[in-house]
Amino acid sequence: MPLNLLPDTATVADDGSVQIGGLALAELAATYGTPLFVYDEQHLRNRCREAVDAFGHQNAVYATKAFLCTAMARLAYEEGMLLDVASGGEMFVALRAGVPADALTLHGNNKSIDELRTAVTEHVRYIVVDCAEELDRLEQLHREGLPVPKVVLRITPGVHAHTHEYIATGQDDSKFGFNLANGAAAAAVDRCRRSPAVELVGLHSHIGSNVFAVDSFARAAEVMAHFAVPLDLPELVLGGGLGVPYVGGEEAPTLTEWGRVLLEQCRSLGVTSRISVEPGRSIVGAAAVTVYTVGSVKHIPGVRTYVAVDGGMSDNPRPVLYGSGYEAFSPTRATAGRDFRGRLVGKHCESGDVLIFDAALPNDLQAGDLLATPVTGAYGYSMASNYNKLTRPPVVFVRDGAARLVVRRETYEDLVRCDVD
Ligand code: LLP
Repeated sequence: MPLNLLPDTATVADDGSVQIGGLALAELAATYGTPLFVYDEQHLRNRCREAVDAFGHQNAVYATKAFLCTAMARLAYEEGMLLDVASGGEMFVALRAGVPADALTLHGNNKSIDELRTAVTEHVRYIVVDCAEELDRLEQLHREGLPVPKVVLRITPGVHAHTHEYIATGQDDSKFGFNLANGAAAAAVDRCRRSPAVELVGLHSHIGSNVFAVDSFARAAEVMAHFAVPLDLPELVLGGGLGVPYVGGEEAPTLTEWGRVLLEQCRSLGVTSRISVEPGRSIVGAAAVTVYTVGSVKHIPGVRTYVAVDGGMSDNPRPVLYGSGYEAFSPTRATAGRDFRGRLVGKHCESGDVLIFDAALPNDLQAGDLLATPVTGAYGYSMASNYNKLTRPPVVFVRDGAARLVVRRETYEDLVRCDVD
């Protein structure tokens, strides 16, 4: 198992037992049950600090969509990051966690008037406007007597990032932002400058997610710099998107390297605005592992072996959505061979419920064994569902030999809490 995929404080003992934050994964599984998300709190803090060091105070904005709960909102804010919230719901969680509104930036395409109203009345730091209709809604709020918000315009730079089609956002054929090439971006800048309802403070672009190629970021920064410099606005936001390795052999730039490339590119092109970024995955992705229990090992001679665990596409839909790869390891004998090949699946009622299509699995794996997948900290819990009425797993933060439950396991009662009759 490639150990570089494990969180910062992970250790593997001679007998193969894996500890994170000073606690054995097997013990955590015994205490909290499986499936279980275990986050290395020190890893989370290290990445937040790295982002703040790389981009400067108030220039590193955590994209909460990657993983959000009360404890995570507080942690990122405590470590000096601002928070990007992409819906009224994310804004609610961050505010409820005690993060001040002026540390929040509101994102999302197609924001409702209610989401915008909350952002304006709470005085968020700025709103990233995605489309003309959002400007219409802000003008409506202004007519109702609400204060004038600071806004940043989301621009589609026409840069195609090398990533999965579903998470590439910077190309011209995109639902996001004002298109630069066809003049929509310039028209939106004009409109904002003439409108009494908004104060235009900057420009934004985000080319996609899980991007490994620094040239894609450098190219987008260049396009944005050419547009931004003559406009001389105080803020230039270059989005998130830095990838992380999920499987052995993958390598991604660090937050520090990403910072160097973006800042040097902007500086060399004469950008004097504050430059900020919105990393999500690179802060939380490698911080967590998911621990499962194997429930069946079904060998179909001449076909393949299916290994089923007690979770699946409801706690990690990424393999089925994007074909994303993962590794699996045994939390109790991580040093043992992994020569057993099989398809790691969940317990949902469909064949698409796959966690790893062709997994290298611990030898002699059997029902009752624990199995863990690393790098599940981003877009796992946050995209989890109750499909088949599975209850969502708990989330535990571990640090210095202590565990704290930050999200409890859902109960069957939770499954009917919104049912009216
Ligand atoms: N800023 C904006 C405007 C975004 O849309 C996103 C992600 C980010 C920042 C953070 O990007 P990150 O640093 O996490 O790559 N569910 C997909 C990823 C969707 C990303 C959506 N936007 C996945 O599991 O790969």
